Amino acid sequence: GSPITPPEDAEIVANSFAFAFDIDGVLIRGGRVIPEAIQAMKVLNGENEYGIRIPYIFLTNGGGKSEAERCNDLSKQLEVEISPAQFICGHTPMSEMASKHNTVLVVGGEGEKCRHVAQSYGFKDVVTPGDIIKTDSATTPFRKLTPEEHKNSKTRDFSNVAIEAVFVFADSRDWAGDLQIILDLAMSKGGRIGTRSEAFDEGPPIYFSHNDVVWSAAHDHVRLGMGALRGIVEYTFKEVTKGKTLETFAFGKPQIGTFEFATRLLKRWRKNAHKLNAPPETVYFVGDTPESDIRGTNNYNERAENDWYSILVKTGVYQDGTEPAYKPRATVHSVLDAVNHGIEREM
Ligand code: G3P
Ligand code: MG
Repeated sequence: GSPITPPEDAEIVANSFAFAFDIDGVLIRGGRVIPEAIQAMKVLNGENEYGIRIPYIFLTNGGGKSEAERCNDLSKQLEVEISPAQFICGHTPMSEMASKHNTVLVVGGEGEKCRHVAQSYGFKDVVTPGDIIKTDSATTPFRKLTPEEHKNSKTRDFSNVAIEAVFVFADSRDWAGDLQIILDLAMSKGGRIGTRSEAFDEGPPIYFSHNDVVWSAAHDHVRLGMGALRGIVEYTFKEVTKGKTLETFAFGKPQIGTFEFATRLLKRWRKNAHKLNAPPETVYFVGDTPESDIRGTNNYNERAENDWYSILVKTGVYQDGTEPAYKPRATVHSVLDAVNHGIEREM
């Protein structure tokens, strides 16, 4: 059919296609906006030769603050209003786990932010590594809490507490201390701090909000990400248990569940923000990391009811002149080229 809907509120909206954007390495790098991203948002919002607005969502593996706070930052950086209703970060799908566990350990991020995010998701009893260190400072021999951390952390009697799951919400600020505490729980009897299982097979499940070994930050070369910590946790568990295997779980891209979550969000967003009811025929996914963005989009495309079309940009993890481990449908320089590529294919 026609790629555009009839004018509504003097606005023409593309109904047959939509965009989904990765953030780090595509729109933002090292906390600063990639200049072409500002123009790309303008093009999506009608500054194109057809005068159409094109629906879009954001799907980042990053995290560490609430969706509302992150969208506030992004709105300023991209010079366009961005709603949490069009945004998914690495830990967003963890909200669906809140009713499954009572007491959980939440790892990563600045200060108390991730505790607060977890509580806002409905997790009832959230423990942080700081609580465990404040209760027993011998837990991490070289890690002393700062005065601020000491003030915010809560001592408690852990003897009757079972930590039912571990959630790594955002990048660890103290890999050694967090590694020690995660391993202590993985080796424990049913998540009870200070205990040791004989067979090392009764620890709580451990979830990471994504599995990116590297990501694109301010440095010229990629920086280590949460997937590296995940690998270290699994490797070290094997070492300290003399050969047992620890299976941990990752959310985020490239997991199919994350793309399914994105499909539901995009459906709601198109309906509520653009009054579009039928699903788009094509979703253009723009990313910089072959292992998570391109792999995830291509895999999901095999089972999705519409076409998920992967576009790789050269402003982040992927380096021009190399062979990406997962092949995109198109490779372009920047996010602006990606948006123009999608529009040209459609119109
Ligand atoms: O820690 C964030 C990073 O691994 C990736 O973020 O936006 O590229 O998915 P993004
Ligand atoms: Mg990225």
